[in-house]
Amino acid sequence: MGRTVGGMGDVRPTSAFHTDNITDATTGRLVGALDTQAASAGVRRLREWAHRGVAARPGERAVDIGAGTGSETLVLAAAVTPGGEAIGVEPNPGLRSIAEQRAAEAGNPARFVDGDASSLPLGDADVDVVWCERVFQHLSEPDRAAAEIARVLRPGGRVALLDTDWATSILHPGDPEVVAALTTGALATAVNPYAGRRLAGQLAAAGLEIDDLGSQALIQDPSKVTWPLIRMLGEAAVRRELITERQRDQLYDDLTAAAKQGAVHMSVTMFGVIAHRPA
Ligand SMILES: C[S@@+](CC[C@H](N)C(=O)[O-])C[C@H]1O[C@@H](n2cnc3c(N)ncnc32)[C@H](O)[C@@H]1O
Repeated sequence: MGRTVGGMGDVRPTSAFHTDNITDATTGRLVGALDTQAASAGVRRLREWAHRGVAARPGERAVDIGAGTGSETLVLAAAVTPGGEAIGVEPNPGLRSIAEQRAAEAGNPARFVDGDASSLPLGDADVDVVWCERVFQHLSEPDRAAAEIARVLRPGGRVALLDTDWATSILHPGDPEVVAALTTGALATAVNPYAGRRLAGQLAAAGLEIDDLGSQALIQDPSKVTWPLIRMLGEAAVRRELITERQRDQLYDDLTAAAKQGAVHMSVTMFGVIAHRPA
């Protein structure tokens, strides 16, 4: 194994979801990825748990920060109807327009606005419910976003904050050292890869009281390998001299053979926190 992962100079946001990397060209791919994830059992279960936790009610005001395709803004809008309002804050114009289109097609009253998690376009104590899912991993200043959540919640208001912790990634089969090299490379270039484990502490530091903690693993179909992701990580690990080309090829062969037997395990764990602003 060659040199270790580079210094801070190598650390840069690589996610297409990071606001620095937003382009029209990537929007279609992002929508596809979000729709696939939304259909997975782990995401569905974590969302059901979190919606029960915040329990949005008719007449309330809800905000979905980093709404993406708006799927959960629509769920919140249905829960606060009649008399309430659900707003999705989404900085990516392509995703925002998909969310608006889907709301219109569904006859759902959710509305979507431009904005940033670190400076929400909302007043103090303005909302009853905050939803923020898989956004903190893209933020270089997640503490600021946690403070913003606390600022916009009215006393007694609830938040569901959900995110992945990329250090929980599992890939099997494969030489564990080679697999670790792929994961290490990914962690080094992500913005906030350990987002999941930090959520509760960040909300507590912002003055919120934690009510519940939850988790679900996002598990890939055992007969499939997510080749675009694996290849991206494999090539990056070779480029960084963390593994040799031979080790990379052996990993690809191991995964191909295992997929034929339905024996691939690829997963990552998502965590969730339900909290409220003390009255
Ligand atoms: C992985 S997607 C999650 C979308 C949606 N919350 C979901 O779970 O399906 C990350 C979302 O965060 C948004 N995002 C990235 N940086 C943001 C920021 N600074 N403020 C608000 N949203 C941001 C992206 O545009 C994208 O919609």
